[in-house]
Amino acid sequence: MEKDTVIFFDTTLRDGEQSPGASMNLKEKLLVANQLTALGVDVIEAGFPISSQGDFEAVKTISQQIKTSSIAGLCRASEKDITTCWNAVKYAKKPRIHIFLATSDLHIEKKLKKTRTQILDMAVKAIKYGKSLCKDVEFSAEDAGRSDMDFLCKVVEAVIDAGATIVNIPDTVGHTTPIEFGKKIAEIRRRVPNISKAIISVHCHNDLGLAVANSLSAIENGARQIECTINGIGERAGNASLEEIAMTLKVRPHYYNVKHSIKTNELYNTSKLVSRLTGILVQVNKAIVGANAFAHESGIHQDGILKARATYEIMSPADVGVPESLLVLGKHSGRHAFFKRIKDLGYKLDEKTLEHLFEKFKILADKKKTVFDDDIIALIEEDTSSG
Ligand code: KIV
Ligand code: ZN
Repeated sequence: MEKDTVIFFDTTLRDGEQSPGASMNLKEKLLVANQLTALGVDVIEAGFPISSQGDFEAVKTISQQIKTSSIAGLCRASEKDITTCWNAVKYAKKPRIHIFLATSDLHIEKKLKKTRTQILDMAVKAIKYGKSLCKDVEFSAEDAGRSDMDFLCKVVEAVIDAGATIVNIPDTVGHTTPIEFGKKIAEIRRRVPNISKAIISVHCHNDLGLAVANSLSAIENGARQIECTINGIGERAGNASLEEIAMTLKVRPHYYNVKHSIKTNELYNTSKLVSRLTGILVQVNKAIVGANAFAHESGIHQDGILKARATYEIMSPADVGVPESLLVLGKHSGRHAFFKRIKDLGYKLDEKTLEHLFEKFKILADKKKTVFDDDIIALIEEDTSSG
């Protein structure tokens, strides 16, 4: 049987850019958009056109220049927002209007000062108007994670009837947990009669560190579009990280049994580019793209890796675009890794000298966190010149 496709919707240029201090200029946004295309993302959310003239220009220029991915612009459920969004994305080969409106009582009553009936009416009107301009219209039920399920299902059914092609279920404040979120997706599929006419999308925030787990649970329960960002950047604690989701699907193909178009060997490049342009550093122990993701310090692990990579690595660094694993030399390292590094540095030393150097290396490693190549060269030079 043909596998389902999971659509990767990247919102680095919209939700990601909403991270404090992450603003990018037009040239930088274009660099990221081109790299996202090289990475193979299906949909690039290029910005929120009504939010500023700069964002409008960025969405318009990206729409004019990017030819392979769909280009989405975000807008609220108002005619003015939707028209502005359309005026920015209409140049794209595959434009998408992305309309959002809150469906939780908290947002409806406190933020929007409306009733559920008014929200339902606004959502339907907005989708109908969007649909009169653009074939591809996405509806996001903001704060769906905390919305009443009866009302959420009613809204989802109504916007699909109005023409929405994608219905997005955001966990806007990262409040749900994986099993709970998966059940919500399953319930929507079960209860909304016209659900097969649209694709279910999810958009998870990371306030409890669960954005990736929630997104994967949603895939298990039938979501077929994932909204995510490079390095997981985004509002507050960020969004689900694209690289973690893509690699989980790659490393566990039989568990998820879906296909996607991400070229994972572009992940590391993309992560580096986004980090450099936004100024947001990637934590060293970040899964997939952190500096330590393929680094091994303990002697037992280094020995294992040298004998058979799979002992301590579940994916090859080349699969994410990292040239090779790093055997970091420190106090936990063993002689195999130390001798290999000496050989890689171009030295051919006899066994006695190697053993002697290993003792000196251990003394040094107890004094400093990492022993670098220059330290090893100094040890060798010192030893061979004195002996
Ligand atoms: O977090 C959220 O709910 C959003 C929507 C606009 C999709 O970013
Ligand atoms: Zn968001």
